[in-house]
Amino acid sequence: MYKSILVPVDGSESSALAAQHAAELASKLASELFLFHVVPSLPPYLDAAPERLSSIQQSIMDEYMKQGKTILDKAKDSLAAYGLNIQTLIAVGSPADEIIKKAKKQKYELVVMGSRGLGGIKGVLMGSVSSRVARNASCPVLIVR
Ligand SMILES: Nc1ncnc2c1ncn2[C@@H]1O[C@H](COP(=O)(O)OP(=O)(O)O)[C@@H](O)[C@H]1O
Ligand SMILES: [Mg+2]
Repeated sequence: MYKSILVPVDGSESSALAAQHAAELASKLASELFLFHVVPSLPPYLDAAPERLSSIQQSIMDEYMKQGKTILDKAKDSLAAYGLNIQTLIAVGSPADEIIKKAKKQKYELVVMGSRGLGGIKGVLMGSVSSRVARNASCPVLIVR
């Protein structure tokens, strides 16, 4: 059961807590963990931009990708003590949509994610990414708090 677990990470404390929780579960169930980060795509007005803007857009995306890879590496390093099989994956797009798509396409058996993220509004109990994934994913979703 739950042999392949998708763990969306955004670099927040809440997602780090979720990753620890997923690692505990994975070590009990001998599961493989897939840490997944989604780099949010840039607003559309930049897409329709002339030459100079598109090169600026490219450097912003390059920076985002670099940050995304750092987030994934840190998350992976923080779970090293569990001795698990862990892979890191990155995509560009709308975080909730990409997580839902990935879970369905790769047939992950469980998604483990944080209840809050980086963009948190104080007092809100669940972020928009976690609530959209919880409502729309095709597999079970565990939201850690
Ligand atoms: N860009 C992202 N890539 C991967 N996972 C994400 C991303 N954004 C959010 N998540 C996941 O969703 C959880 C909840 O975050 P979110 O719903 O964005 O809350 P908030 O509104 O507080 O930022 C995070 O702990 C993380 O597991
Ligand atoms: Mg967020």
